[in-house]
Amino acid sequence: MANSRLREAIRWRRWGKRDWAIAAVAFATVSFALILQFDSPSSSSSWSNQSSPNSAETLLVDLTLLSNAKDRGAVCLDGSLPGYHFQKGFGSGSSNWLLHIEGGGWCNTIESCSKRKITALGSSNFMDHRVPFSGILSHKASENPEFFNWNKVKIRYCDGASLSGNRGSEVQDGRKLFFRGQLIWEAVMDELMSAGMANAKQALLSGCSAGGLATLIHCDDFRVKLPKASNVKCLADAGFFLDEKDISGNYTMRSFNHEVVNLQGVAQSLNKDCVSRMEPSQCFFPQEILKHVQTPVFLVNPAYDFWQIQNILAPVASDPRQYWRNCKLSIKNCNQSQIDALHEFRNSMLKALSEFQQKEDSGIYINSCFSHCQTWMASTWHSSNSPRVNNKTIAEAVGDWFFSRKTAKEVDCTYPCNPTCYNMNFGS
Ligand SMILES: *[C@@H]1O[C@H](CO)[C@@H](O)[C@H](O)[C@H]1NC(C)=O
Ligand SMILES: *[C@@H]1O[C@H](CO)[C@@H](O)[C@H](O)[C@H]1NC(C)=O
Ligand SMILES: *[C@@H]1O[C@H](CO)[C@@H](O)[C@H](O)[C@H]1NC(C)=O
Ligand SMILES: *[C@@H]1O[C@H](CO)[C@@H](O)[C@H](O)[C@H]1NC(C)=O
Repeated sequence: MANSRLREAIRWRRWGKRDWAIAAVAFATVSFALILQFDSPSSSSSWSNQSSPNSAETLLVDLTLLSNAKDRGAVCLDGSLPGYHFQKGFGSGSSNWLLHIEGGGWCNTIESCSKRKITALGSSNFMDHRVPFSGILSHKASENPEFFNWNKVKIRYCDGASLSGNRGSEVQDGRKLFFRGQLIWEAVMDELMSAGMANAKQALLSGCSAGGLATLIHCDDFRVKLPKASNVKCLADAGFFLDEKDISGNYTMRSFNHEVVNLQGVAQSLNKDCVSRMEPSQCFFPQEILKHVQTPVFLVNPAYDFWQIQNILAPVASDPRQYWRNCKLSIKNCNQSQIDALHEFRNSMLKALSEFQQKEDSGIYINSCFSHCQTWMASTWHSSNSPRVNNKTIAEAVGDWFFSRKTAKEVDCTYPCNPTCYNMNFGS
């Protein structure tokens, strides 16, 4: 099962157009989870239980559809109700809230959004009704020492524009689509506020990949909704997408963002100062967003983020002869000139982060792994063999920052210096 799904993800990337490639991250991410389970000796016996890879320990949490959503037009791409999974906090965590926004790329054309609306990333009709809560969502103190007993919410992603689309009426091009990400965000917030979040003492908004970007976009709005006296911060995992040239010299990600922002009417959700000063789609890049966010933010990102390497640095269109194919499947396959290009990409990331890094209340954890989202799996978030930088797991660094115990600005040495990394391998 894992292998066929994985092969499908790879085939998509090879054959698909650019927007397909970018949409495929959801599948890559699913495969990622399965591979990690498979590679991890402690859970290899139960990994084949597809609905719950390590069911012996991981809690499955039910999907709740947003009943207040339809009247206000807050719907998924296909018009279905959006949803979330909620696990109630307990003990000393009962007034604290941790939100995690699911990732899964974006759609930039009517075509790609129409394909997406018949998947779980565009319709709740296709979503799993129960999902495992692991890593940052785990209820076990050993796996999630700081947040295990908090109220925890996984917000499902079904709009295709990082919960930020704003089109008033559905597009009619022979097809019906709804671009209502911003309304979904507002409807989820209203529901959680009335479920007790309005009295939160501490809260952390987090998300992975496109959900990490959504976290940055909505961070200050989240802050102002919660009580003034509460401790509120934001954590973006693998959401620091760079505005970099690809290997053919084109700004692939820049054009892609431009299409997403225009198609889905995202500009209204972006910072007004930023939008007044530059092309709105530039304000969809984290580097610009972070210049305006006032709430404390922590960024977790691998310097060799496989999604960014596959889609920003060496997208299929920039490499017609597929010289990069094997390197994109596993960093172990890269030759020296490709490794040099990856180091350059890392340098660009550190440069893009330098202003943010200086802020007193910021946190960063940039490890040198060939990886993507790292907060929602025990094996990368916090376990005896998860990645470490300066001997800290991601969970430990985030905890130090959230509770203001120590500064947490962890930057790893260059690949392949860190033996604790999980490096993804999509090939054989
Ligand atoms: C898979 O997990 C579910 C939920 O824990 C369990 O009920 C079921 O028996 C498991 N199936 C297999 C084949 O292990
Ligand atoms: C680079 O961009 C130009 C102009 O948009 C386009 O014509 C060309 O096909 C692109 N090249 C690649 C390799 O994507
Ligand atoms: C690495 O591979 C690329 C593409 O096949 C090739 O152009 C380049 O010369 C190779 N570099 C080295 C150092 O082998
Ligand atoms: C690294 O951290 C572990 C667990 O937190 C601790 O037991 C160990 O002594 C630390 N190692 C070093 C070299 O500081």
